[in-house]
Amino acid sequence: MSQVIPTPPSIPFIGHAASIEKELPLHSLILLTKQYGDIFQLNMIGTKVVHISTQKLLHEVSDEKRFRKTISTTAWEVRNATGDGLFTADVPREQNWFIAHRILMPAFSALNVRGMFDDMLDVTLQLTTKWERFGPQYKLDPSQDFTALTFEAITLCAMSYRMNSFYIDGLHPFARAMADFLTESGSRSMRPSIVQGMMRTTNAKYEADKNVMLNYVNDILQERKANPKDKKDILYLMMTGKDKETGVGMTDESIKLNMLTFLIAGHETTSGLLSFVLYHLLKNPEAMRKLRDEVDTNIGQRQMTVDDVNKLPYLIAVLRETLRLSSPVPMRAATPLEDTTLDGGKYAVEKDSTKIWCNVYQIHRDPAIWGPDAEEFKPERMLDGKFEALPPDSWQPFGFGMRGCIGRPFAWQEAQMVIVHIIQRFDIVMDDPTYDLKLKQTLTIKPKDFYIHAIPRKDKA
Ligand code: HEM
Repeated sequence: MSQVIPTPPSIPFIGHAASIEKELPLHSLILLTKQYGDIFQLNMIGTKVVHISTQKLLHEVSDEKRFRKTISTTAWEVRNATGDGLFTADVPREQNWFIAHRILMPAFSALNVRGMFDDMLDVTLQLTTKWERFGPQYKLDPSQDFTALTFEAITLCAMSYRMNSFYIDGLHPFARAMADFLTESGSRSMRPSIVQGMMRTTNAKYEADKNVMLNYVNDILQERKANPKDKKDILYLMMTGKDKETGVGMTDESIKLNMLTFLIAGHETTSGLLSFVLYHLLKNPEAMRKLRDEVDTNIGQRQMTVDDVNKLPYLIAVLRETLRLSSPVPMRAATPLEDTTLDGGKYAVEKDSTKIWCNVYQIHRDPAIWGPDAEEFKPERMLDGKFEALPPDSWQPFGFGMRGCIGRPFAWQEAQMVIVHIIQRFDIVMDDPTYDLKLKQTLTIKPKDFYIHAIPRKDKA
């Protein structure tokens, strides 16, 4: 006999939607976990949501024979722009996912991503040049600059197209439209449809933002068709690739939805990771010192090459530990393939109708795995050997299984390159030395009000 999952008191009709902060939903979920425990149930405007926050429960839900990814309520709104693109596709119902997945997996392999090194370098040098030119007095917004960088990197590497974000004051129009679209997608997911229908100005702006993004990808595709290139970038593979199983290629519609998907999924996340890396290193000078020693000893002031990727163990540990404490995608959602139970048979969950919110942000702090110092930034626990010995599904910043992140090798190479270049060239200091991490949340999380100064290294040869 299964037990009742703990649940907070709720309001008729909207259930618990009003209990979740709009600006930082993660904050409300952390508070609810403190009150209701590792597993609790919410009614989100009629949808049954089961929230979990331990490695043990995540391990159970990471069994692809019993559970599949479901599209979260926010991602369901993002589908208004990205449709059945890889990230937001409803699988197995939407067959385009399988075709696109099989065509694109080899394109994002670590081997193929090595071939993108020079384009990534081009963009990375745009960032370091900007920081050098602006000088040490200038108050830099790293989230904004990393957003420009990762956005340029994905457009250049995947589509051989330059948005020239570093030559625009403020955010690129695409990046601004996207940020507003994602924020509004999050808000819509918590509004009853009757209220949504009455918000005419908001809805018109949402449509306009969506069209800005779709027009960009359409223009890039049309330009490529008019001027074909020999370069075998991701766009080329999408336009010419054939699925080995069915023999069919991707339709223009599917290509555009996936271009948009890469632009969204491929830059918010890595940009967040890079900002969090700087934050954690600045708060932990000993980790910064060790990383700088590693970079100075192994690369020094010479140009980093593709053969340096994955050769700096402490840097890898810093990235892993940052992704543990500050996973840019803090939640993922799953649903059972059949009616089943959770927590070793204790609680019933129903096929399709139950959405399980896996709170990766909190799971990455599970004291049963990470101990009493789970909140501390300690890259040493992530060094090779220790990392592989962790219990399964303790660390899941890139999602899981067949719906796990296709861009992981891309992000991994890009993040290493950017951090090495920054360490080689600058002493980074916080604008406000007393700053403690605050978060802002859309589909991803990023540091809020975090500013730095980049001082050219005096000891540089
Ligand atoms: C999926 C995280 C970088 C493209 C995912 C998922 C996570 C994730 C957690 C699974 C989401 C879910 O289960 O709902 C990250 C992080 C990144 C990163 C932390 C950087 C640090 C990238 C990059 C790209 C990308 C650079 C593209 C070039 C995608 C796509 C999917 C995905 C297309 C959907 C895969 C599918 O379902 O077929 N990512 N990502 N990501 N990511 Fe990433």
